[in-house]
Amino acid sequence: MSEQAAGTFNRRSSLHGHWSSRLAFVLAATGSAVGLGNIWKFPYIVGEYGGGAFVMVYLGAVFAVGLPIMTSEILLGRRGRRNPIATMRILGAEEGSSRHWQWLGAIGVLAGFLILSFYSVIAGWVLTYIVKSLTGSFEGANLQQVTALFESTADDWVLTTVGHSVFMIMTVVVVALGVQHGLERAVRILMPLLVLCLLLLVGYSYIEGDFVRGWDFMFSPNWQALSSEGILVALGQAFFTLSIGMGTIMAYGAYLPEGAPITSSALIVALSDTAIAILAGLVIFPIIFANGLDPAVGPGLVFEALPLAFGQMPGGMYFGALFFVLVTFAAWTSSIGLIEPAVAWIVETFYRPRTEATILVAVAAWLLGMGTVFSFSIWKDKLFWQGTIFDNLEYLSTNILLPVGGLLITVFAGWILCRNSSSEELGVGTGFLYKGWRLMARFVAPAAVVLVFLHATGLIQL
Ligand code: PHE
Repeated sequence: MSEQAAGTFNRRSSLHGHWSSRLAFVLAATGSAVGLGNIWKFPYIVGEYGGGAFVMVYLGAVFAVGLPIMTSEILLGRRGRRNPIATMRILGAEEGSSRHWQWLGAIGVLAGFLILSFYSVIAGWVLTYIVKSLTGSFEGANLQQVTALFESTADDWVLTTVGHSVFMIMTVVVVALGVQHGLERAVRILMPLLVLCLLLLVGYSYIEGDFVRGWDFMFSPNWQALSSEGILVALGQAFFTLSIGMGTIMAYGAYLPEGAPITSSALIVALSDTAIAILAGLVIFPIIFANGLDPAVGPGLVFEALPLAFGQMPGGMYFGALFFVLVTFAAWTSSIGLIEPAVAWIVETFYRPRTEATILVAVAAWLLGMGTVFSFSIWKDKLFWQGTIFDNLEYLSTNILLPVGGLLITVFAGWILCRNSSSEELGVGTGFLYKGWRLMARFVAPAAVVLVFLHATGLIQL
């Protein structure tokens, strides 16, 4: 983003400057989408919710619900050109609706903040795994050893606090200095490298793992194994993994140059994000089945399965460290997206310097994150509502706030924004593509979200 003097701000440009090209936007959005959601979360929830059927619902949710909502979110962001709260207020007023649409922005800022708090803790685990790999902790380890290693890591709250703190500081440094640009440039190299590592690992799983069983587990749907909660979690994951429903993509869209195509950008982001999640699954499940690991162990899954593989392969120490470094980068480019809506909001509303706003949000998220640190150690038996503090933060943000945010975004884009505004902003004329998007945004996506909610609360049976 090029800096722009505040004095030159006008309605059609953003206070924070613009992406240099559409490719820069796609890279930033992909950087935000690809993260722990793909590599850590996707495999463990697929394992928890029974495999194939869950994956099918997830894929349906990404393309039938997530894609039109992502398109809507970019569209609103570019039209509003401000932080998500201001954007929604301006557009609400402009379209003759209500200023209260700003609350939609507020839901997003809150969701981002809650997610950041636990995201940083998990990213901290990844950091400690870089060190563990380099010090040979995985060498020749068997199932019991990798499980014990993960449990003792998560249980060691001093260590995980260090990881959490280091990652939060990394996030602050990038966001406060406004050097996202540098990070995005790094993504150009690191993302393909991550994909390459994943492909190599898929190769390893193919040779050494139980590939057939892993493949079957992921792609042969057993509909009996799917619970109504699983459907909600699949929907929540579609939002989480695409970074939609909370204003990140809206904020990024605000910096998108006029005239850059929105629909194809959204499609590229969704396809790359999905491909990476599927690859991660294809790495993990064959290893799990070959080693007798339980696919439903939860958040520790990848931290147990991957060390098993790294511990057995030649040079696994270095390869493992490289892999966890790349995952750290992926998480880093996501965390800056999580914090950005809150920072932009504070900067624009209270006229605070960017650095101060970033530190404020990060300190608050760090404190809340300690709740997640303790959820795996000293407070692991303190359970309420959905489980530990971590379980609750994750459930509330991912399964409730993101889908509600996404629902309101698509309702706004489909119903409140007039036809002229949306077709002008989308820039694809009023033909097939526009009609298709509008149909999805007005009916299919909102109906799906509402149905899943009703189903999850037991109000309807499908
Ligand atoms: N999409 C990111 C991931 O999969 C998480 C994220 C969610 C980032 C929402 C920004 C906004 O890891």
